[in-house]
Amino acid sequence: MRKIFVLAALAMLVIAFTSFDSKQATGTNTTAFNDSLDKDRAKYIAIVLEKIKGKENLPVDSVFKNLKMFKGMPANRLLAIMNIGYSKSLGVSCGHCHNTDDFASDEKKQKEITRQMAAMNKEINNNLLKNITGLQSSPAVINCTTCHRGQIKPALDLEKK
Ligand code: HEC
Ligand code: HEC
Repeated sequence: MRKIFVLAALAMLVIAFTSFDSKQATGTNTTAFNDSLDKDRAKYIAIVLEKIKGKENLPVDSVFKNLKMFKGMPANRLLAIMNIGYSKSLGVSCGHCHNTDDFASDEKKQKEITRQMAAMNKEINNNLLKNITGLQSSPAVINCTTCHRGQIKPALDLEKK
């Protein structure tokens, strides 16, 4: 009888962890989930770094093929933006926006959406937020994380994840 009880308790734990996993897949932040995403991103960054070896500090637009936003800064800064600024903010890996066999390709709609998100972000910072007086920060700024907070779809209320 006791054995059955222990087994049932174990089974429930397994179920709890499995449903936990599916929650993670929808973008809820947890350590385990972030570890595997971090690894995946590190893998692609290493691949790109290998390809641009010796050119890490050259102007980004002389190293990569299809940049419409980024100019001038050192090439390896682009990878930091891709990793932390974009991927981590949305809780995704590189493949969410890229064909990872061809990072220059624009075939994934998320890549062009990102260019428009960046333009929206800039408009808010430079033309809207700047005109609000009495804020705690000067200048007050937003970035991808402000809305996305580790999720593909920014939340509209505090309950829904
Ligand atoms: C949220 C979407 C998004 C994510 C996630 C993302 N990228 Fe990007 N990536 C872009 C956009 C947009 C551009 C083009 C920027 C421009 O037009 O200046 C780009 C450009 C690049 C380029 C330049 C390709 C070329 O030759 O033009 C590389 C390399 C790259 N990304 C690597 C990565 C890596 C590695 C990761 C994961 C660590 C990653 N990206 C994650 C949106 C994303
Ligand atoms: C002011 C809030 C806000 C900011 C700032 C913001 N986003 Fe978004 N983003 C949204 C909303 C809202 C959506 C649409 C979600 C939906 O489809 O319902 C979205 C959708 C996206 C998508 C499409 C995801 C998909 O696969 O459906 C991408 C990619 C994206 N954002 C990238 C970014 C990046 C990168 C930044 C920073 C440069 C950024 N966003 C900044 C609010 C924001």
